[in-house]
Amino acid sequence: MQIIRELALLREAVSNLRNGGRRRIALVPTMGALHEGHLALVDEARTHADHVVASIFVNPKQFGANEDLELYPRREGTDVKLLTDRGCDLLWTPSVEEVYPDGFATTISVSGISEGLCGGARPGHFDGVATIVAKLFNQVQPDVAVFGEKDYQQLAVIRRMVRDLNFDIDIIGVPTQRDMDGLALSSRNAYLTDEERKAAHALPRALGQAAARIEKGGDAAKAIEKAKASLAAAGFDPIDYVELRDAATLQPVSNAKQPARLLAAARIGRTRLIDNIEVKAK
Ligand code: PAF
Repeated sequence: MQIIRELALLREAVSNLRNGGRRRIALVPTMGALHEGHLALVDEARTHADHVVASIFVNPKQFGANEDLELYPRREGTDVKLLTDRGCDLLWTPSVEEVYPDGFATTISVSGISEGLCGGARPGHFDGVATIVAKLFNQVQPDVAVFGEKDYQQLAVIRRMVRDLNFDIDIIGVPTQRDMDGLALSSRNAYLTDEERKAAHALPRALGQAAARIEKGGDAAKAIEKAKASLAAAGFDPIDYVELRDAATLQPVSNAKQPARLLAAARIGRTRLIDNIEVKAK
């Protein structure tokens, strides 16, 4: 696997991989600290293209002032091995200075779909995500880009941006990979103490139970209240949100007459976890 840190070299390497337009390129953008969830994205990427490019960049612009930018796990050696073993062709891992040189002044803001949910709890987060993803798209110029459904709102924001800005890139969403007890794989799970890790499976369980109630025609508001109560009982505090939204537009909905998504974010100890689950239309 080639490891590239400078844009000029990236352009040359991607052009070689592309082989005069005869080969398709898939991009898997990540912030590193890779786990099986990311590697499932690499596997999916390979089914859509001849070559897979992964990026690792811990993007300062998507972290709020009091968030975990400094703490965020950085494990390049392990990540390189995992990507190599999974058959990734190129790793693009630029420095902060390479991505945001002095005087960098542009922000991409996707209104509407970025607001509420994690956008409400983390002001500016999705501007940071949209800006870096647009830059990664322009840097790598992939045919396809692959993202996890675990960050469901992020995926919706990126789909909207790609449509609005006419990026000629297919966006593929991959279902969330989960541990044995149902907890969604996340680089931030590394922050959990043993006790918090045991309690954390209450998050997927509460979402699963609420989704089943709503699918059976139960009252969504009551199902959400129950989910919040079981999260609180398991030690989640605060609960940022548990909300039912339209699966495509992320507009609030009060039943599953259309495909919907139940999304949640809550803190356990010092760690903020997010998860979401499909609610099938009746
Ligand atoms: O999902 C992530 O890891 C990040 O938000 C992304 C898409 C790589 C942008 O920094």
